Amino acid sequence: MATLKAVRGTRDLLPPETALWNHVEATARAVFARYAFGEIRTPIFEDTALFARGVGEETDIVSKEMYTWEDRARADSDSAQSLTLRPENTAGVVRAYIEHKLADTGMLQKLFYIGPQFRRERPQRGRYRQFWQIGAEVLGPSWSGADSALRDAEVLEMLSTFLNELGVKGWRLEVNSVGSSTDRPRYIAALREALAPVKHRMSADNQRRAETNPLRVLDSKAPEDQEIINGLPKIADFLDDASREHFAQVLAALDACGVSYTVNPRLVRGLDYYTRTTFEFTVTDGSGLGTQNALLGGGRYDGLSEMLGGPKAPGIGFAIGEDRLILTLQAQAEAEANGVAERKLDAFIAPMGVAQNAGALALAQELRRAGLTIEVGDGSFRLKKSFETADKLTRRMVILGEDEASSGILTVKDLITGEQTKVARADLKDFCAAASLSS
Ligand code: HAM
Repeated sequence: MATLKAVRGTRDLLPPETALWNHVEATARAVFARYAFGEIRTPIFEDTALFARGVGEETDIVSKEMYTWEDRARADSDSAQSLTLRPENTAGVVRAYIEHKLADTGMLQKLFYIGPQFRRERPQRGRYRQFWQIGAEVLGPSWSGADSALRDAEVLEMLSTFLNELGVKGWRLEVNSVGSSTDRPRYIAALREALAPVKHRMSADNQRRAETNPLRVLDSKAPEDQEIINGLPKIADFLDDASREHFAQVLAALDACGVSYTVNPRLVRGLDYYTRTTFEFTVTDGSGLGTQNALLGGGRYDGLSEMLGGPKAPGIGFAIGEDRLILTLQAQAEAEANGVAERKLDAFIAPMGVAQNAGALALAQELRRAGLTIEVGDGSFRLKKSFETADKLTRRMVILGEDEASSGILTVKDLITGEQTKVARADLKDFCAAASLSS
């Protein structure tokens, strides 16, 4: 029989690597909390219309990458609802903002999320069909200050702090402004006009995008497209005064906080909802990722809430590709330097004979309650097997035989020096804890 495997583009995360994932998530939670963010958890699947309207029909995500199915109430029912595994979380957060009337609080909402997203992309290193994002959204009514350039800079400064606290080396921040919802159509019209006479010389993908979504032409990495792209009109020349001023304020606040950045006039990003500030963080060296892989991306949006039937709620957000961040940390070998090395056991308890199993478990319970990390063997193991198993896990083995059980004096063997010590049961936790500190 053929063995079953994880589906292409999905993967299992196993220990000890999961310790690094937990460290990254714990760091995100700790850093985001200092900036007054709270956690939101939205469902993993939603009505397909949410993404079609929220992310945009013409985006790559909606047009070809979603996992969508017809969900019938009953097998024989004709009525079906179209559902989709979330390809990103911004649309879900804005839906929840509307559904729970968070606007009524009048307060700026600062929400973060950590969870899997699903896109039917061609799998490769750093690109999966189920991948994890750590993201956040800052949104609210205009009077809550949600429009302010201060928020853009705050989010970017928070991300730089997060990457620095994790010890990511060589990150680069690229920023741009894609203008207001009135600037963009003027720019898109100009792009279309400029592309019309030259698009036949571009890659097949770009010929299609030139028709459907000209902004995405700027994203192309195809070498044959670069010269043409460099000659196209720049969004910066189409910004109205308010957008220009907003972008200048973002950059000034980044300067004031000492966050370094590069303005990349081609950075438009692939989702329809962006207005004004857009950004990406990449890792230039030692990331283990190809150059095409952004570590994280995001931007400002205005109109998304209205598109989903809600009140005006401008916002800014980002999503970090957690898989890519982990690959980067591993490639940069930061894990150990940050003390994320797998926690070593404090002791291994070896029951001598099945009759000692229950007592061994009770002893383990006592030591674990005292905060020690303990593994228990099994009374069916021969002594040699107990030694071999303990040796792979720790340097201390506690022997629990009939004599030890009745006398309350246990034998602790140091597996490196070979030394055996008799320790009273009541002193065992202090003995193991002290020995762990010195080993
Ligand atoms: P996005 O650029 O589509 O933006 O994704 C953000 C990040 O998720 C990417 O920079 C990348 O690191 C990671 N990512 C995307 N697709 C994959 C994949 N197939 N495998 C591994 N990692 C991937 C968004 O999703 C927006 N919702 C971000 C946002 C929030 N904008 C405003 N608020």
